[in-house]
Amino acid sequence: MPKNKDRHTVLVIHGPNLNMLGIREPEVYGKTTLDEINRDLVETGKELGLDVETFQSNNEGEIVGKIQKSLETKSGLIINPAAYTHTSIAIRDALLLLNIPVIEIHLSNIYKREPFRHKSMIAGAATGQISGLGMHGYILALEAIAKMILPS
Ligand code: DQA
Repeated sequence: MPKNKDRHTVLVIHGPNLNMLGIREPEVYGKTTLDEINRDLVETGKELGLDVETFQSNNEGEIVGKIQKSLETKSGLIINPAAYTHTSIAIRDALLLLNIPVIEIHLSNIYKREPFRHKSMIAGAATGQISGLGMHGYILALEAIAKMILPS
């Protein structure tokens, strides 16, 4: 729990092109929009007793900045780095600053897809990874973080 706070906040970061969910390759990513995913996360957070903040950016530097700002203010982080999963040492290094649970999420199963998607730069800096369970993966990640940070 960050200092001077009586509620835990979990930050959810969505990387590039995830703002286009619903119309972007629906056969791969499903028809659910990002707004719908975010609404579900906020609702599930309420049930679990967690505040959920969501953020989407198509820009690597903005994502790094958001991770840096979560230092000392957030209790958990869920991140779908999207294409930056496979390229971004900068996002990996930023995540290594944090000592809170970090869960890497992919809607699709990256290990069943093109070989360039099999490698995650992020996995080594995450507490765990969920890949291939569609939007349900985000909810499972939030439940897992709740178990890790809330008293049982
Ligand atoms: C993704 C998988 C990435 O390979 C891809 O670049 C994305 C989305 C997923 O959620 O399945 O943009 O992270």
